[in-house]
Amino acid sequence: MSPTASKQQSFPLAFSTKTIHCEPDAQTGAVVPPLCLSSTFTYKSVTKPNQYEYARDGNPNRNHLEEVLGSLEDGQPALCYASGSAATAAAIQSLGSGAHILLMEDVYSGTSDYVLKIASENQLLQSTFLDLVESTDQEIYDAIKENTKLIWIESPTNPTLRIVSVPRLVRIAKSHPSKPLVLIDSTFASPYFTNPISQGVDIVLHSVTKYINGHSDVLMGALIVRKGLDDVFRKLKQLQVSGGYVPSPFDCYLTLRGLKTLSVRALQHGRNALAISRFLSTHPAVEKATYPGLSTHAQQETVKASLSPQVLKDLKKIKWDEEEEGGVPFGGVVSFRIKGGAEAAGKFLLASKLFALAESLGGVESLAEVAAQMSHHQIPEEERLRLGITPDLIRMSVGIEDVDDLIRDIDQALEVSQRV
Ligand SMILES: Cc1ncc(COP(=O)(O)O)c(C=O)c1O
Repeated sequence: MSPTASKQQSFPLAFSTKTIHCEPDAQTGAVVPPLCLSSTFTYKSVTKPNQYEYARDGNPNRNHLEEVLGSLEDGQPALCYASGSAATAAAIQSLGSGAHILLMEDVYSGTSDYVLKIASENQLLQSTFLDLVESTDQEIYDAIKENTKLIWIESPTNPTLRIVSVPRLVRIAKSHPSKPLVLIDSTFASPYFTNPISQGVDIVLHSVTKYINGHSDVLMGALIVRKGLDDVFRKLKQLQVSGGYVPSPFDCYLTLRGLKTLSVRALQHGRNALAISRFLSTHPAVEKATYPGLSTHAQQETVKASLSPQVLKDLKKIKWDEEEEGGVPFGGVVSFRIKGGAEAAGKFLLASKLFALAESLGGVESLAEVAAQMSHHQIPEEERLRLGITPDLIRMSVGIEDVDDLIRDIDQALEVSQRV
C-alpha cells in the first residue's frame, strides 16, 4: 500500500493528484489502504524482520502518510508526531544543549511557551523573539549569534495574519557565518498555498490537526526536512521513535482520507475567507479586517510571490480575476476588530449561528473566537496588546459552507453586537 509518489511515473504528478493516488493494497486489491492496528509484526527468522517490526518504529498507515506529505512539500518523507506541539518539541529538542534560537515574535503561543518555560530550563536554550516582518536585514543579521542553530518563522502569523518573506530570511541566514537552519511553521497556509522548501527553507512544520486533516477529528503534527539534510532528518526521526511521539494508525488513516480533498477544500476556504474579509472591510461595525489574500494587505506582494504552482494553476483554470475579486485566496483565517470592544465581540460570537464558538482552525466547519480570551490568553496582557491581540479582535476560521449563508450570518451577528 504505497503511495503513487513512490511509483515510477512517466510524468511528474501535480499536487492534487499526489494527495489522492496510491497503489491498491498488494494482497487484497483494496483501493483504500486498510487500517493496520497491529502494534507488532512477525519476523521471517530471528535476524530477518519483515517490512515492519514494531509500530512505534513505523506502521503501514503512518509510513504511507509520511511519504505523501513529504512528496507534497518536495522534501524527505515527513515525520509525523502525535500533535503539532509534539513536532515543535522535537524540532527544538533536536538543537541540543546551550543553543540559541531566533523566532518570529508572534509565533503560536504554545511554541513560545515551550521555548520559554521548558527548553530554556531543560536544554538551556537561549532565545530571541524578533519582528521578522518590520526589522531590517541588518537587525535580523545582528540577532543571529555564534550559537544560533535555528530561525523559526511562522507565516501567516496567528492571529494577526502578518506575512514573513521567506526568501529574505533564507538569504540572511545563509549569509551569516553561523549558518542557522530555517524552519517555517506553515500551518495556516497548508501545503496547498505555499511550498516553502522551494523557497529555501530547511524544515517545514505543520499542525496536521488543521487544514491537512481538515475535519476537526485528529490531533497530529508533521516535520518535513529538505532533501539532503540527512543528519537533521535522522535526529528528528530518532526523537520521533525514541520519544514515542508518534500518532496512532487510526489518526494516520483519517488524515490520509482528509488529505485527499485538501486542494478543493483549501481553495474553497480561501475563496470564502476572501469574500468575507471584503464584506467585513466595509461594514460599519468593523474597525479593521485582516486577510493575507486581500489586495490591501500590507504584505500582499510577498503573499503573491509565495503562491504554489497548484494554486496558480487552479486560479487560472477558474479564470480568477484578481482585481474584481479584491485579491487572491490565501488560507481560511480572517481576523477583525469589532467596534464596541470585548463586550461587542462576546455578543457577536453568541449571536452567530454558523460560526461555532471554539478555538482551532482548518476544519470544514466555520469557527470563531476572541483570541485574547481564548487561544492567546496565556500571553501576558501587555505583550498581547503590543502584538496587536486586542480584546476586540475576533479570529474566524472560515469553513467551506455556502459563502452567502456565512455572510448573512455575520451580518445579523454584527447587528446584534452593536445593540445597546
Ligand atoms: C500555528 C500553529 N502551530 C502549531 C500548533 C500546535 O498544534 P497542535 O494543536 O496540533 O498541537 C498550532 C495550534 O493551534 C498552531 O496554530
